[in-house]
Amino acid sequence: MAEIGTDMMKAQALLEAGELVAIPTETVYGLAGNALDANAVARIFEAKNRPHFDPLIVHIPNAAAAAQYALPLTPQTRRLADAFWPGPLTLLLPRKPMIPDLVTAGLDTVGLRCPRHPLTLQLLKNLSFPLAAPSANPFGYVSPTTATHVNAQLGDKIAYILDGGPCTVGLESTIVGMADHAPTLYRLGGLSQETIETITGPVTVSLNTSSNPKAPGQLKSHYAPTKRIVTGSLPALLQEYKHLAIAVLSFTHNYKMPHQFVLAPTGSMAEAAQNLFTALRYLDTLPVDMILAELAPEEGLGRAINDRLRRAAAQ
Ligand code: TXA
Ligand code: MG
Repeated sequence: MAEIGTDMMKAQALLEAGELVAIPTETVYGLAGNALDANAVARIFEAKNRPHFDPLIVHIPNAAAAAQYALPLTPQTRRLADAFWPGPLTLLLPRKPMIPDLVTAGLDTVGLRCPRHPLTLQLLKNLSFPLAAPSANPFGYVSPTTATHVNAQLGDKIAYILDGGPCTVGLESTIVGMADHAPTLYRLGGLSQETIETITGPVTVSLNTSSNPKAPGQLKSHYAPTKRIVTGSLPALLQEYKHLAIAVLSFTHNYKMPHQFVLAPTGSMAEAAQNLFTALRYLDTLPVDMILAELAPEEGLGRAINDRLRRAAAQ
């Protein structure tokens, strides 16, 4: 198991020595290494058992740093960065050659993000390099939103886990790129489509599900617990699967089942998002045959929550 602590200087020293450190962000915990050091980046892929065709997001301390690693922001990307950084937004930008090929999986864009977490922002400011950081989970499993989640699965593969408390957003960043100068959303996430559209106007949504996706976070089956999940209307599903041992994931309604998780007792989608991955991990540990999950209204963060639930349910 890895050491868990709040010692930013220790995290900094390890990263400067080419080691991997798990870092807190507002979305999910990241498995971080020096983005400019191909050896450190290779170790990230190895620790996660992640295929090399899946590029990594590079974390920077502020929007000004973007120009070091990518071509200058355009008026449109500048407005997005100004509005949402630090925050749960990743911008795909034409990359500069100093970013190792391994980071971008050979693509000509690099995903940049300035995370909104005080510890990690300070760490990024102190370091002389940006941090490549995928979510700190084995490839294909549910992302971690606490230091304990990270330790449970990757604890033996990393030097240190910087504990910044539970993630406040709980869903990965929303990924936005410019396809032919039109803002395009490649992954739904912690920043809602509607909020982005207040800055950009209508966006194109391009969530790949093929076996050779542009963003493998968009693989049909991803973010998945080990147990089988079925999504739909809970009263109907409870009837259909009444002969099995089941666990229930609901938004506000308490089904008074022995095995259940109510995501947002107050009805807030932000609260549901924050709890989602903890809920999936918890339900995955229960002595049940399967998990029945209800979907959120298709708006705001509900869209991203449903995206994760559907991918978790895909076989
Ligand atoms: O919230 C987040 O984004 C978290 C925290 C740690 O920052 N990170 C995260 O990383 O979710 P990861 O590696 O689990 O997901 C990154 C996604 C992948 O689906 C990857 O394919 C996509 O971003 N991606 C990264 N760079 C890309 C690029 N240049 N073009 C297209 N997709 C890219
Ligand atoms: Mg991930």
